[in-house]
Amino acid sequence: MKHILILAALVAAAACSQKVTPKTLVLYYSQTGTTKVVAEALKAQLGADIDEIVPINSYGEDFGATIARGQKELQEGTLPEIQPLQADIASYDVIFLGYPVWFGTYANPIATILDQVDFKGKKIVPFCTFGSGGLEESVAAIRQKLPEAEVLPGYGVRAARIDAVPAEVERFLKEGGFIPGEVTPLEAFPEFQPATEEDAAIFDAAVGSYPMIQAVAEQVTSRTVPGGKEYEFIAKDKPREGAPAFGEPRTMKVHVLVEDGKDPVFTRVDR
Ligand SMILES: Cc1cc2nc3c(=O)[nH]c(=O)nc-3n(C[C@H](O)[C@H](O)[C@H](O)COP(=O)(O)O)c2cc1C
Repeated sequence: MKHILILAALVAAAACSQKVTPKTLVLYYSQTGTTKVVAEALKAQLGADIDEIVPINSYGEDFGATIARGQKELQEGTLPEIQPLQADIASYDVIFLGYPVWFGTYANPIATILDQVDFKGKKIVPFCTFGSGGLEESVAAIRQKLPEAEVLPGYGVRAARIDAVPAEVERFLKEGGFIPGEVTPLEAFPEFQPATEEDAAIFDAAVGSYPMIQAVAEQVTSRTVPGGKEYEFIAKDKPREGAPAFGEPRTMKVHVLVEDGKDPVFTRVDR
């Protein structure tokens, strides 16, 4: 009898000390398939379940029509209805929540989900794709909307840089401790300095052809990263010659990557 009790205690102790793997879901909306690429990469690398958010009345693929409908919904407060989810959210601990950035924040179908689904006590890891930016803004909006969830730092990528996703997602997941593996920690950015002509040329090369960013670099900081150099610019709106100005000039932070032997590209804008 004594032996059985000791054995039972040992089994119980072993069970307690065993690490429970959190149950993870990748839940995403993607109108035109870009965010889906990130969702699939996350699913593959995490070995997680995946579920797609599907509006009952599809937005289709027409950009202009989506802008018009999306704006109308926001103005009128009529969010899109979505099909019931396949996944039972209550049974997951960690939810990677993905979306395209619309109008500077998460796309409208995400607003519906945040209203309808109970995310209390969950760990939420936002991820998004965008033309120029909106990661920080959308993550802040999710945090505000879900005060009883733990909203962790997110991952965002420009649609134009979708090829960078597998490697960036791997680093993101390792840094966050979601998958095992070592990553070389990146050095911290030093303090911002006034941008020199040389810095401004890098900034212009990175954003030059992108119509939504018409700005001048004012301050800069940079650091070495594996395979190149990363910059952060503080820039101010400045319409190109002959272009109309939209209100007061605003400042923005523009993240730029210069990979060895390649032209500068911007990776994200925070406004
Ligand atoms: C209605 C609408 C609004 C958008 N607003 C923004 C925006 O404010 N900022 C931005 O960088 N990209 C914006 N975009 C671009 C999308 O975020 C980008 O194309 C995204 O990668 C699309 O993802 P998907 O293919 O998963 O739908 C917008 C696109 C649409 C259709």
